[in-house]
Amino acid sequence: MNRVVQEAFFVTGTDTDVGKTHVTCALLHATRLLGFSAIGMKPVAAGVEKDGRNSDVVKLLTASSIVPPLEWVNPFLYGLAVAPHIAAREEGRSIDIEVIRHAFEQLQRLADVLWVEGAGGLLVPFDDRHNAADLAQLLGLPIILVVGMRIGCLNHALLTAEAIRNRKLHLAGWIANQIDPDMNRFEANLESLQTRLGTPLIGVIPFGTSLALAAQALRLSVLPGFTDL
Ligand SMILES: Nc1ncnc2c1ncn2[C@@H]1O[C@H](COP(=O)(O)OP(=O)(O)OP(=O)(O)O)[C@@H](O)[C@H]1O
Ligand SMILES: [Mg+2]
Repeated sequence: MNRVVQEAFFVTGTDTDVGKTHVTCALLHATRLLGFSAIGMKPVAAGVEKDGRNSDVVKLLTASSIVPPLEWVNPFLYGLAVAPHIAAREEGRSIDIEVIRHAFEQLQRLADVLWVEGAGGLLVPFDDRHNAADLAQLLGLPIILVVGMRIGCLNHALLTAEAIRNRKLHLAGWIANQIDPDMNRFEANLESLQTRLGTPLIGVIPFGTSLALAAQALRLSVLPGFTDL
């Protein structure tokens, strides 16, 4: 049994739809395989299914060690699948970062490791003053960057890494998520990012694998006391 740790990370991506939720679920699995308890948090979600639930939140809850109160896992949910600040304005409920902080602190008491999924990419606005990066900063979280491996991802990944560092945030690692099975020169792109991102590659998640296999592709050296199994 590993010693109890208290760690939390902010999972951002090169864009919307690049696999942040898929990868966060794999991170939850991998964390639990190491013997830690883990919870996935989605502070801000936009878009609901017919049952009124958000699919990211459902997936994160399913992959977590326990089922905490929904208002802690997902304090802000909007019906409209648009940018959060637009949904917030139209639906008349603004995103309150202090409410998110409170929810985060409650979750911290419940698990060893929290994986906090952002919304869209790093600079997605929450309101006129805040964006997703501000939330990571306020919560003091190191950042994990999910790169959706497809044409154009080099620019998106390097811009995101630069924005993280310009804000004096810590880029703790990155994950290559193979969202395009037909990407030309995948290995050369991977290598280009490895030499330029300046942070450890936590893993390469192949296209179309189960969460269990995706979890096996991750090397969670960001966790304290990590040793390879
Ligand atoms: N490695 C992969 N192989 C195959 N399909 C994948 C992979 N990663 C993600 N996908 C699929 O791509 C789609 C987008 O993934 P996901 O929902 O995880 O993205 P996201 O970045 O969390 O999006 P959002 O910005 O909406 O939160 C989903 O249908 C998911 O199943
Ligand atoms: Mg998602």
